[in-house]
Amino acid sequence: MGHLLMLWMASVMCCSAFSTTAWSVNNFLITGPKAYLTYTTSVALGAQIGIEECKFQFAWERWNCPEHAFQFSTHNRLSGATRETSFLHAIRSAGVVYAITKNCSMGDFENCGCDESKNGKTGGHGWIWGGCSDNVEFGEKISKLFVDSLEKGKDARALVNLHNNRAGRLAVRAALKRTCKCHGISGSCSIQTCWLQLADFRQLGDHLKAKYDRALKIELEKRQLRAANRAEGRRAPAEAFLPSAEAELIFLEGSPDYCARNASLGVPGTEGRECLPQARGASRWGQRSCGRLCTECGLQVQEETAEAVGSCHCSFRWCCTVRCGQCRRVVSRFYCARPAAGRARPRGGDKAW
Ligand SMILES: *[C@@H]1O[C@H](CO)[C@@H](O)[C@H](O)[C@H]1NC(C)=O
Ligand SMILES: *[C@@H]1O[C@H](CO)[C@@H](O)[C@H](O)[C@H]1NC(C)=O
Repeated sequence: MGHLLMLWMASVMCCSAFSTTAWSVNNFLITGPKAYLTYTTSVALGAQIGIEECKFQFAWERWNCPEHAFQFSTHNRLSGATRETSFLHAIRSAGVVYAITKNCSMGDFENCGCDESKNGKTGGHGWIWGGCSDNVEFGEKISKLFVDSLEKGKDARALVNLHNNRAGRLAVRAALKRTCKCHGISGSCSIQTCWLQLADFRQLGDHLKAKYDRALKIELEKRQLRAANRAEGRRAPAEAFLPSAEAELIFLEGSPDYCARNASLGVPGTEGRECLPQARGASRWGQRSCGRLCTECGLQVQEETAEAVGSCHCSFRWCCTVRCGQCRRVVSRFYCARPAAGRARPRGGDKAW
């Protein structure tokens, strides 16, 4: 993971931070190389938050947000413009907005802070604005500056990526929620002060996952493609060819089914993946995962058992200790395996791909 972080930072440092256009357009944000370094660390942290969330959201999907999906190719971009890369772009860009905004509210940077512009004003019946409202505007600027400048291309694919970066930023703004504190005589709550607060990043992940499920495939006609390819600089592609879907994820290319291994596509396939059988009261994420990962991909569900040692028969002793025994129990896990191949999950099978 550290390796990935360095890659990210290296690409930010080498190719965007000091490029003249990024510099001249955005130098109002920056007071010197030192300030830039400050943001770089938080940007890397934000991207990391995005990566972790992606892994969580896709843990029980055929495509499970593998590490290499985030590694930049020689062209310094996530390859393809599929439904999956649309999610990657959005979650990474959202992570950066999120991290920077949190930093601002904590007072970590000199040139941003809480949004207190409405404090003291009535917000609605029984409440006034007060406290520290998270100010996503600065986070959006930094995210746009750093993440968008990783996109070097000017073709339709690049525009789609930029669109999805923006959709990620918009998702953070849309997930701001009002949080209130009661005041009034002996806590009667006759008056409340409220501020806007970022939702948990998990909520943002859920939100973007739902957008992934209903992502829009863009069918470009020649005319639009030409227009898109002409679109200059950093214009949001939504404006270029899809005005009504600015907050939606969009993609250009169909995805493989991710069942079978295909080295040239970087798809490891689902053989060897763990799944959660229905009977286990699988979480909503794990639901139907054995079907999705194994049987629907022509693989069998194979059970493997192992012994686990844990505490048991605990009792309370007067006074005041708890004594426990050690018990062995058999735990079973389930994996996708090729039919006929006797015993079988391939090496590294219990590790998430
Ligand atoms: C930004 O926030 C993160 C996590 O809260 C923290 O580790 C980091 O040091 C902060 N950045 C700065 C410049 O203070
Ligand atoms: C991998 O995918 C490519 C592109 O879809 C396809 O042309 C190729 O036949 C696939 N290779 C294997 C081994 O399935």
